[in-house]
Amino acid sequence: MKAIANQWQTEVPTVNPETGEASTRKALPSDRFPSPYANETAARAANNNALPPDLSLITKAREGGAAYVYSLLTGYRQQPAELIQKFPASKTPQGLHYNPYFANLNLAMPQPLTSDGQVTYAPGNPKPTVDQMAKDVAAFLVWTAEPKLEKRHATGLAVVVFLLFATVFGYLAYRNIWYGEKAVVRATGPLDPKNQAKARSAKRKAGVTG
Ligand code: HEM
Repeated sequence: MKAIANQWQTEVPTVNPETGEASTRKALPSDRFPSPYANETAARAANNNALPPDLSLITKAREGGAAYVYSLLTGYRQQPAELIQKFPASKTPQGLHYNPYFANLNLAMPQPLTSDGQVTYAPGNPKPTVDQMAKDVAAFLVWTAEPKLEKRHATGLAVVVFLLFATVFGYLAYRNIWYGEKAVVRATGPLDPKNQAKARSAKRKAGVTG
C-alpha cells in the first residue's frame, strides 16, 4: 500500500513548512483517494444529480457489508416486465439503472463492472471475470473500512492463548500452594463456644431455665 501511495500520479496539496508556500507531497496510505470530480456540483452533474458516496466505510455502513457490495455490482439486470405491469410507477426512469439489490430498485450508478477482463490481474491470480472482480472489490472495501482488522484478530488470538495459559498456571499454583489449607472459621462474641458454655453455667447457677 505504501508503494502504491508513493507512486500515485496525483500529489497531495500541502504547505511547505520552511517557506509557508503552497506545495504538494507524495501520497501516503492514510490519504483519501483523489476524487475524479472537482466538487460535489460536478459530481452530481455527471451522475443524474446523485452524489457517488465515499466508499471507504461502505461495508460498515450497509447491512450485509461485503455481500451487499458484491450483490450490487453483479445485480444489474433488465427490469422484469411483470413488475412494471403490476407497479407502473416503478419503471426505471431515464438515467437510472434497475438493480434489485438497491433499496429503491433504481440506482444512479451505471454498472461499473460490465465485462470479463475489464482489468488485468498479475499472473498466477484467478481470471478477472465480473464475478471475481466484484468479489475482489468487495474484499478491498472491507479492508479500507478496517485496515487493522487482521492485526487486531491476531493480537486477540494471542491474548486468548495467553489467558488460557494464565488460567491453567493459576489453577496449578492454587493446587500447589493453597489446596491443603483448610478454611478456619472462628466464631466470636456470643457465638464463641467458650462464651456459650460460660453463659450456660451462669444460667444454671442463677437457676434460670430455658
Ligand atoms: C467497482 C467500482 C464501484 C463500486 C464498488 C461502487 C460501489 C457503490 C456503492 C456500494 C454505492 C452505494 C449504494 C448505496 O447507497 O447503498 C454506490 C453508489 C453510487 N455510485 Fe458507485 N461504485 C463503483 C463505481 C462507480 C462509478 C464508476 C460511478 C460513476 C460513473 C459510480 C457512481 C455512483 C453513484 C452516482 C452512486 C449513488 C447512487 C444513488 O444514490 O442512486 N460508482 N457505488
